[in-house]
Amino acid sequence: MADDRLARLVDTDRGVIDRTIFTAQDLFEQEQETLFTRAWLLIGHEGMVPEPGDYVASRMGTEPVILTRDRDGKLHAFLNSCRHRGMKVCLFDQGNTRVFTCPYHAWSYGTDGKLVGVPMREKLYPDMDLDRWGLIEVAQLAVYKGTVWATWDADAPPFLDFLGGAKLHLDLALDARDGREGGSEALLGIHKWVVPCNWKLPAENFCGDTYHNPSHASVDMIGIGPSAASGQKGRRDGELDGAQHLWVSFPGGHGIHSAMVASNDYTALYADDPEISDYFRHCHEERVRRKGEDARLRPFVGTIFPNASFHGGQPRALCMWHPVDAGHTEVWRFFLVDADAPERVKAMLRKFYMRYSGPAGMTEQDDMENWNYATAGARGPIASRHPFNYQQSIGRHTPDGGGRLATQITEENARNFYRHWRLFLEGRPWDELIAQAPRQAAE
Ligand code: FES
Ligand code: FE
Repeated sequence: MADDRLARLVDTDRGVIDRTIFTAQDLFEQEQETLFTRAWLLIGHEGMVPEPGDYVASRMGTEPVILTRDRDGKLHAFLNSCRHRGMKVCLFDQGNTRVFTCPYHAWSYGTDGKLVGVPMREKLYPDMDLDRWGLIEVAQLAVYKGTVWATWDADAPPFLDFLGGAKLHLDLALDARDGREGGSEALLGIHKWVVPCNWKLPAENFCGDTYHNPSHASVDMIGIGPSAASGQKGRRDGELDGAQHLWVSFPGGHGIHSAMVASNDYTALYADDPEISDYFRHCHEERVRRKGEDARLRPFVGTIFPNASFHGGQPRALCMWHPVDAGHTEVWRFFLVDADAPERVKAMLRKFYMRYSGPAGMTEQDDMENWNYATAGARGPIASRHPFNYQQSIGRHTPDGGGRLATQITEENARNFYRHWRLFLEGRPWDELIAQAPRQAAE
């Protein structure tokens, strides 16, 4: 693809982006070829495959993969495609097995990916080298605080280098609420549903589109926060009231919205339930003891480029925006809680998370409606002649730790996301993909 076409489509210096990038199937195919085969992608959580032989079906871009734990306890991710004719060797969402036996002609593969069984092999394939025909395995796999990430690119930098400065904010979502590193577990299963939108719209929304709050006016009025305290308004018990908001975009294309809150103490909200209020008091006190002033830094949302997002406070969720085609996205969502939280706290949070998120959640329905109509609204022959405006707070940021920091509502994170999208589609080398973003627009 000629670079000048991409330059015309994505002009982040002027804050103008062509609608075609959300609709054109040839660009979608280009994304699959040059982006989803190279970037680190979130594929699951260790808690989905705790025992040897456990597996869960996942995806990397449009391609199905199997995340599995072999008999020695090692994690692998394989393309879910038989080496004989490409049939899926695993037709189930999850389970436990000793071998993956292809339903078509019954070639069998171990949980370590090795080809271990070929019907009538001695007669039909007397010279076959089984070692050459195992399942196709990802080039690199990384486990980070329970989350599992993979890339097809052997030359990709280590996961933490790819993550860069976004690590601090992802940590806030993954760590226990009392400030310990790690200590969270996944509340399974996985919510999965297909949305008629381009995958980039939800990824962009989660990298810091705070401007879309009017979408949620109706659910804000009724108050669906996790506590049962009377008089509560909003969706999340006012966790960001009085906060100092921070939007940061990072060289890897990642973007986050976090906040310094007045206090992380939720105790009073649960005063009518001693077990739950004790838990929140314990979390608050331990967090302050461990982190001091930094205990006030609270995660809100973020996108780890390209298609993994987190909702870090309440609810506390990991999201995958799996591309299906230019106009459809398969959304995956699972939730996190502290592994050692009391069961009643976990049950209360599970109910709140489902009340908030997903196709039946009261908040996410608003977002999906926006993304669906935005995709449809990018398609028409007249509409597609007119680009989208991404000029909000342009230039209103400062360099910060290799990234760009804004303290007012901004689309800089979205501009950074699309700047990076363009670099991937241009096939740039890794040192450019994770290099510091150009500074010319910074104040
Ligand atoms: Fe799998 Fe033939 S396609 S054994
Ligand atoms: Fe929203």
